[in-house]
Parts: sequence; structure tokens; C-alpha cells
Amino acid sequence: MRSPVDASQNARPPIVPPKPPARADRVGLLTYARLFRRDILSAQPARLYRAWMAAFRTPFFRSYLINQPELIQTVLKDRPDDFPKSGRVGEGLRPLLGASVFLTNGDEWKRQRRIIDPAFEGGRLKQIFPAMLAASEAAVARMGQAAGQSEVEIEEITSFAAADVIFRTLFSIPIEDQVAARVFHEFRLYQRTQPILNLAAFVPLPRWMPRLFRRDTRRTAASIRRLITGLTDDRMAAIKTGTAPDDLATKIMTTPDPETGQTFTPAEMVDQVAIFFLAGHETSASALAWALYLMAMDSETQARIRAEADAIWGEDTPTFSDISKAKFTRDVFREALRLYPPVPMMVRENSCPERFRDRDIDPGSQIVLSPWHLHRHNRLWERPDEFDPDRWKTPNGKACQRDAFIPFSAGSRVCTGAGFAMIEGVLLLARLVQAYQFELVPDRPAMPVAHLTVRGKDGIWLKVRARDGAPGPES
Ligand code: HEM
Repeated sequence: MRSPVDASQNARPPIVPPKPPARADRVGLLTYARLFRRDILSAQPARLYRAWMAAFRTPFFRSYLINQPELIQTVLKDRPDDFPKSGRVGEGLRPLLGASVFLTNGDEWKRQRRIIDPAFEGGRLKQIFPAMLAASEAAVARMGQAAGQSEVEIEEITSFAAADVIFRTLFSIPIEDQVAARVFHEFRLYQRTQPILNLAAFVPLPRWMPRLFRRDTRRTAASIRRLITGLTDDRMAAIKTGTAPDDLATKIMTTPDPETGQTFTPAEMVDQVAIFFLAGHETSASALAWALYLMAMDSETQARIRAEADAIWGEDTPTFSDISKAKFTRDVFREALRLYPPVPMMVRENSCPERFRDRDIDPGSQIVLSPWHLHRHNRLWERPDEFDPDRWKTPNGKACQRDAFIPFSAGSRVCTGAGFAMIEGVLLLARLVQAYQFELVPDRPAMPVAHLTVRGKDGIWLKVRARDGAPGPES
């Protein structure tokens, strides 16, 4: 196997990708709420990139953003049951997700994870790899239609590709399927009407204040759930007649809880499918779009990814085990997740009195974990704002990977799809960069903002050229 060019030998100018400006250190509550509504990232002060803990006081509750690795470990890994998911977080998502695993807590959540987790184990991921591969080849072909255009909005393409991966692996249907296409379209509408996930955990609304969901939000949620109900009903019928394909939906619908022997009811399955679509495609699309933007900033890294893919699978299509051999591409994808964690913040609520950094934390406080700030913390990471995929091989990179890198959260409530997403991300990134050259569009720099996931403020625009000898615009 030819080894990829090792650029770490050559000194090169630092690559510093876009980061939103921080706000002034002290602002009033109303200004904060207004900034927050515009964008959660630029609403935060710069000190959060160096603080171990920061307190935010509102008239109704207190929030504590924690960056200290030991505190994060306490909340996520050591005593997760004492820090349930904050009810405020899911407010905007409840009409769509019902009682899905993303929103529940306690015994209900544990039961759901016991049924879902086996579907995402390593062996199962190997079984669904052909479906992922088919989606990646379809994405490469679709990118061919964009290649040659002067400017391409890349998030649109990555959203489509990530949704295709989910439909194919979950229900064995491509995104072109009529129902899949409608679900995808309705999800995009939902996001527009209900864009900010965590708003209620920061802004000072009392808990008793009724949540006003916009009519559009309810209507779109109901329409998505109707479509998903059709998919799960059909699948249940196929399971009964023994004709169901061996995909993630069949696995989840036929796995009994090892403790009670019960499978999900059809209604519960609709809630779970809704979160798989949402968590599974929004996040991966965001990570891939930013990874491609970083590629456009760094042609040398593109060349190294290409060299690695050419050396491992060349002109063949990659196999499942090839993906684990693509170590440099994985480091690049990891670096994209560090700089642009698709889920920028997570919120928990402490159920008992706590003492953090010599401060008493009253029960019911909001505990904010911010991958966004932790991943760029300047007392933990060397050159935190630089794009450097070789950092993961350094002692600092290794230590930070263990203590200060949580793009998928950590502990028992870690993202169900983390293993899935790392295979999908590396596969799509490698195949797209193997086939195309990505370049920046002059005068159209991307600026990250937090919507449901971290997105480009005005999209992410790139120039895409077919790599010499690779399929061109006509393919
Ligand atoms: C790059 C891609 C992804 C990223 C960065 C990501 C990140 C996350 C994070 C940070 C959480 C925890 C949220 C919290 O605790 O507040 C989460 C939860 C979750 N993710 Fe992912 N995710 C990704 C892909 C996926 C995929 C592909 C799936 C499924 C196919 C998935 C399914 C879920 C589910 C079901 C949960 C809820 C788990 C629970 O609360 O027990 N995710 N994800």
C-alpha cells in the first residue's frame, strides 16, 4: 500500500477556518435574549473559550456552562442519572418526536436504549454497509451534476446524501422513493419553522409558561408522523409475512427488551423513526458540509485524502474494512467534528444539590455542556482555532481526544449513531474527495451559526471540479 503524502514534515501556513465573533463580555438580559434568538454561538462571550465554568443568572433559573473535563465526566459518565436531560431542551421538538429516546429520561429511556442499541453494534454496521455504500455512490454521481457550476450550495447536497443514507439503511429505500422524498421535504420545512433546539434552556422563560408552537410547526410535524406511520405499518405487515428486508427498521422492530420481553409498540416506533431521521441526517449533513469546506481551504489535505483512498481501494469501491484503514481521512473528519461539532451544546438539569468549583448548584439548574467551546478551549488545546488533522497523533491531541472531545456526547447517553456516523462520514468524505476537487468561492466565506445543528449563516458555497480522469458534469 502506498502511504499518503505526510504533510506534517513540511511547515505550512496555519489554516484558520471561520469562527463567529464573540459578543461583549457584559450585556443585559434583553440584549442577550435578542442576540440569542439571532444565533446561539455569537451570543456568547469570548471568556467561555478559557473558563472552566460560567454562570448565567435569569429571573427563573440558573444555567452553568461547564468546560472542566472532570465536571463533564461527572455529569455524562459518572452520575448521568443525577443529571437527566433538561425538559426545556426538547420543547420545540416534542410535536415531532413525541416520547422518542432523544427526549425521555430514567427507566423509560433505559428501556428504549436496550431495544435500540443492538441495531447499531459493529456487526450490524457491517451488514448495512452495502446500503451506505450505495448512498455514497449516488452522492458521487449527483455531485457530478453540480461539478462545473461556478458556485454550489454544498449543505443542500450533503443533506440529501445523509438523508439517502438514513432511508437506505433504515428502510431499504433510496431518497428518490416517493415517501422518502416527501419525508425529506417536510423535515426541511419543520426545521425552518422550529429552528433552535436549545433556546428554552437559556432564555428566561418560566417553566409554567405555555409553549406556543406555531401552527406550521404542528402541521408539518403531523404530516411527517403520518408518512412515518405508513412506513412502519407496511414494515410491520412485512415482518408478519416474513418478507421484511434485514435492515435497521426490521432489527429495531423485532428486538425485544431483554428485561421485559416486550418490543416497541407501533406508536413508539414512529417516535423512534422520527428521531433517527432527524438526528441521523441533520448532524451528518452538517459535519460533511464543514469537512468539505475545510477541504476547500486546504488543497494539500485533499491531496492526502485522495492518495489514501487511491492506495487502499483505488478504482474499486471500498469495503467495510477499507474504511477502518483510511486513518488519515478519519483524522480529517474528526478535526471537522472538533471545529464544527454539529450539536454545539447539550443541556442537562441537576436533580440533587451539587457543589461545582466551590459553588452550590441548586437542584433544577440548567447544566450546559458545550462541545463548541470545549473543542476550542484555549487552556486545553494547542492552537485550538487552527485546522490541523495531524494534531490527533500528538500527545496534546491524544489527551484532548480523551478529555475534551465530545461531538457525540459521552457516557451511557452517548449518541446511538456514533459508530454509524464515523463510517458514513469517512466513506462519503473519501469518495467525494477522491472524485472531485473542492475550492472556495471568492467573496462567499461561510460563517457558522447554530440552527438545529451548526450550519453556514448563508449556506456553504463551494466550487466543485471533477478530478482529472474522474466522472465529469455529464455523468
Ligand atoms: C456526525 C453525526 C452525528 C453527531 C455529531 C451526533 C451527535 C449527537 C449528540 C451530541 C447526541 C447527544 C445529544 C444530547 O445528549 O443532548 C446525540 C444523540 C443521539 N443521536 Fe446522534 N449524532 C450523529 C449522528 C447520528 C446518527 C447517524 C444517528 C442514527 C442513525 C443518531 C442518533 C442519535 C440518537 C437516537 C440520539 C439520542 C440518544 C439518547 O438520548 O439516548 N445520531 N447525537
